Amino acid sequence: VSAPRRRVTFPRTELPPGERKVLTVGRREIVVLNTGDRLYAVFNRCPHQLAHLHRGVLRGTTVPAGVGEFVYGLEDRVLRCPWHHYEYDLETGRCLAEPDRLRISTYEVREEGDEIALYV
Ligand code: FES
Repeated sequence: VSAPRRRVTFPRTELPPGERKVLTVGRREIVVLNTGDRLYAVFNRCPHQLAHLHRGVLRGTTVPAGVGEFVYGLEDRVLRCPWHHYEYDLETGRCLAEPDRLRISTYEVREEGDEIALYV
């Protein structure tokens, strides 16, 4: 049986589009990102060497394509660690280069009226 989740809220005005916000919930530090289209919430430490991911760049990446083709995708869904540039898919938490070995926890987050609610 998993433990009941905590609901943590803050005003929507504290996280405008394009911004990110770091919250501490218990002993966990979590970064919430507003891409303008979507909200994401992930654990704020890179599993490689524990850099703070909230300082990373939000971008897309090249996605699988034919030989010699370069197709860019996953725009605003990939967070790149500021230290050694490992990239994480914010939807799954998995590192693009080593999806089975490196993964960050993801959390449910959504708009609820004037608030943003995070479920941890
Ligand atoms: S600490 Fe994140 S890639 Fe090394």
